[in-house]
Amino acid sequence: MYEQKIEKAKEHFGKILAEQLERVERMKTSQEWTDYTTLKPITIGFVGGDGIGPFIAEEAKRVLEFLLKDEIASGKIEMRTIEGLTIENRAKVMKAIPEDILEEIKKCHVLLKGPTTTPKKGDPWPNIESANVAMRRELDLFANVRPVKVPEDGIDWIFFRENTEGAYILGRKGVDVTDDLAIDFKVITTQGSERIIRMAFDYAKKNNINRVTVVTKANVVKKTDGKFLDTAEKIAKEYPEVEWDDWFIDIMTAKLIDPARRTQFRVIVAPNLYGDIITDEAAQLQGGVGTAGSANIGKRYAMFEAIHGSAPRMVKEGRAKYADPSSIMRAAAMLLNHIGYKEKAEKLEKALSICSQYEKKVVITGRSDGATGAELANYVMETVKDPELESKWKSYQ
Ligand code: IPM
Ligand code: MG
Repeated sequence: MYEQKIEKAKEHFGKILAEQLERVERMKTSQEWTDYTTLKPITIGFVGGDGIGPFIAEEAKRVLEFLLKDEIASGKIEMRTIEGLTIENRAKVMKAIPEDILEEIKKCHVLLKGPTTTPKKGDPWPNIESANVAMRRELDLFANVRPVKVPEDGIDWIFFRENTEGAYILGRKGVDVTDDLAIDFKVITTQGSERIIRMAFDYAKKNNINRVTVVTKANVVKKTDGKFLDTAEKIAKEYPEVEWDDWFIDIMTAKLIDPARRTQFRVIVAPNLYGDIITDEAAQLQGGVGTAGSANIGKRYAMFEAIHGSAPRMVKEGRAKYADPSSIMRAAAMLLNHIGYKEKAEKLEKALSICSQYEKKVVITGRSDGATGAELANYVMETVKDPELESKWKSYQ
């Protein structure tokens, strides 16, 4: 009685396989990494997004304009604001990223992006694909890099989350085979695993870090996670100087909050969904998801974003200006580092830590009893230009 439904699902599955095999072929033809030293100008695009997004993105933009004043003046850096990646516009054209906006995005080299609303079934919005997920796919931003540091607890982690495969890539292409049976697909490829795992090992090697931790659930999800883990084993052989270990996602979530164990983790690499989950957990240990930045890196493009959501409630309640721009400012520091301004990036990072973790002269609460995002950004800029920045920083270490 289900034959027709099964046939329809099989046909759908066939199309998915063809698409994914094409993607594998594309990954096999190696692409060069963008060399920012040869670009003039380097174009930085600002995508505000939804909810509190445009408010916090504006603050991060001011900070970058301040740090890159000379480069902007000399035409080395160009800044562009890309408007309209809002849930209203996306719902209107029923697209994760409207065509014209995607075109604008592709004209930039790097992007700083505020949060974008991701609808789910039952929301007032049509259940369209996440703009984050679409952007990561469209720009092939395969590495989601998320550092988390809590120096006083000895925590110094950097997560390499695979960003273009796993449970996400076909997140909008699952099937309701019948009213009772829903199937989603999880995809892991050799090429997709290799590139993210290699990036994690490279990072460890370059930074003299002697441990890479691989997170899967390969004991249960045998094919896809199994491939990720097998690939790690293979890549690890190319890095004999870096030790590695593997953990299952469930026990990993426990060990990240185990003071006796967690300080041993340094570089962590995981498939998409596990990486999503443990990076929120890790960010919480640092002071909340509002404190962590996230880099989405591909060979050609890179996008830097806040790791939290768009908080539409804050806008509705008139509290948008009290939203914390720390996460997107952290992302801005990662952007500076990525395009070659390492010293400026370091200054900004130090200033951000001094302002929000140590000195705390301006405190954001998300409400009118706390400071505004603009006040925090001003404080961060003052701290960046403070000649005492370095000695202040040292006094807190
Ligand atoms: C993140 C976010 C996104 C994700 C959402 C908004 C789709 O949680 O960047 O971690 O799951 O990747
Ligand atoms: Mg997340």
